[in-house]
Amino acid sequence: MGTTATTGPGAISTSAIPPSSRCGNWTLYEYAVVASTNLVAANLGAWTAVRADTQTNGRGRFQRTWVSDLGGLWLSAVVPLSHNPVARKVLPLAAGLAVCDGLHELGISGLRLRWPNDVLVNDRKLAGLLIDQFVPGLAVVGIGLNVTNQPEAHDPLLAHRTARLVDLITSPLELATLTQVLLSHLHNVMIDLSHRGAPALLSRINKLWGVPRRVELDLNGTPRSGTFTGVDPEGRLTLSEGTGGVTFYEAHQVRHLTEIGALS
Ligand code: BTN
Repeated sequence: MGTTATTGPGAISTSAIPPSSRCGNWTLYEYAVVASTNLVAANLGAWTAVRADTQTNGRGRFQRTWVSDLGGLWLSAVVPLSHNPVARKVLPLAAGLAVCDGLHELGISGLRLRWPNDVLVNDRKLAGLLIDQFVPGLAVVGIGLNVTNQPEAHDPLLAHRTARLVDLITSPLELATLTQVLLSHLHNVMIDLSHRGAPALLSRINKLWGVPRRVELDLNGTPRSGTFTGVDPEGRLTLSEGTGGVTFYEAHQVRHLTEIGALS
């Protein structure tokens, strides 16, 4: 399947751009190998998606490398950015909701989100999302989802931290089906966000955090601990502190959230 990326910052060879196909409301380009699907998507228009069988420089959050071996879903989707500031803030959370909705449609249960948009099953990471903005008005939603790939073969530390779709389903699942289902839910959620605004999605997003959890926040170097209780109507992280007070943090203030334990 596919070819190698040819233009843009994700390019690694001079072979041709693959033919595009329609995938519901999306135009889809599929490559055998690219540096990073987000970087290939950087040059593309709204409702265009890029999938690759492997990435040589898969990018994770915090400048981490994202292991992107054969068998996983490495997908980037270009979506329009709303002018509404709350909708813009909520977009990364909405993208996590869309992935959970798609996986739910495929029969996966026990999913939850870890701030801002890691998708977990039984405390193991099934999918990670990286949202980039390369040009005004457009965001690239990068989705990395473990399917039949073996991340622990490349990084032994991932052995007990990751989940794979193949271990959660009874019948085989084609990457094409997975791509189509996730893109369809991403489109629906983005349309909802733009037409009905963040409040329409926040109650659904807040259900996905699971039970309240003790967390430690890294506020760009300053630690703060408390109980994470979800997202407020302004799209801010809500932290209950021991004193009985509640504090709200904008996503850009929170460099990292570490879960300490669940309060069940
Ligand atoms: C994370 O750190 O959890 C985010 C990982 C995002 C990985 C995906 S794979 C498709 C897209 N291309 C990339 O280079 N990264 C994202």
